[in-house]
Amino acid sequence: MAEADTTDAEPDGAAPIVQVRSVRVAFGGLLALRGIDLDVARGERLAILGPNGAGKTTLFNVIAGDIAPTGGTVAIKGVDCTRLPSRRRPRLGVARTYQKARTFEGLSVADNIYLALAGHRRRHRVPWRSAVDRRMRAEAERVAESVRLGDHRGTAAGALAHGQRRQLELGMALATEPEVLMLDEPASGLSRGEREHLVTLLEALPEAVTVLLIEHDMDVAFRIAGRVVVMADGETIAAGTPDQVRGDPRVHEIYLGSEGGT
Ligand SMILES: Nc1ncnc2c1ncn2[C@@H]1O[C@H](COP(=O)(O)OP(=O)(O)O)[C@@H](O)[C@H]1O
Ligand SMILES: [Mg+2]
Repeated sequence: MAEADTTDAEPDGAAPIVQVRSVRVAFGGLLALRGIDLDVARGERLAILGPNGAGKTTLFNVIAGDIAPTGGTVAIKGVDCTRLPSRRRPRLGVARTYQKARTFEGLSVADNIYLALAGHRRRHRVPWRSAVDRRMRAEAERVAESVRLGDHRGTAAGALAHGQRRQLELGMALATEPEVLMLDEPASGLSRGEREHLVTLLEALPEAVTVLLIEHDMDVAFRIAGRVVVMADGETIAAGTPDQVRGDPRVHEIYLGSEGGT
């Protein structure tokens, strides 16, 4: 059934789930993206690497609809979303996390996840009944468990350790059962053990879930991703399997050999 809040175009199951064409983004005189083309297949696990300032987060912002590109187009499931704001995209199944966590500091872990669920469900017009509310509370607790925050479900987000905060963000994104999960540096600041857990968690996602991962930690990126795209200075400079990218001299020069990104 069509909803007033959604696009008229029907998603195309055969199209790449994300299709970026000639995307340019200018911030005043600065060209953050200089013409990016990217096709992401359904269920693909794609890592985006590149030094600080390469344009990785900007590309995420464009795909997720947080900013409109200066030029070029973005289609999700074959539907042109270039001018569709992010609040209208979750129906297309896109969820993302941010480089800096965006949680409600004063609310508990379970409440933050509940709100992520509620925001998502409201778009689907689930009637606001107490039975639904109870189910969503139970679901929020299950999600908290799944990101290993079961023991902290009553803890205020603001009181969580850094790694736990990242897990909460991931839980909030997963709560919406996205078809496309976009993670901006999910391993940054995590301990070795927390990274291991993150990898396990991402490996355990249903195969159909498409994962776009910006990651500075090569080990995490190469373990999760089937394909790696390397960006530098607003352009794609290399793409391929983790092995191909590891062996690419340009990547060594521009990224691996440099001080690295964040
Ligand atoms: N909102 C913005 N306004 C102005 N410049 C921006 C903005 N967002 C990003 N930039 C600039 O665009 C370039 C790419 O940034 P970003 O996409 O955050 O890179 P990355 O995530 O690869 O580190 C950088 O030079 C950054 O300073
Ligand atoms: Mg970034």
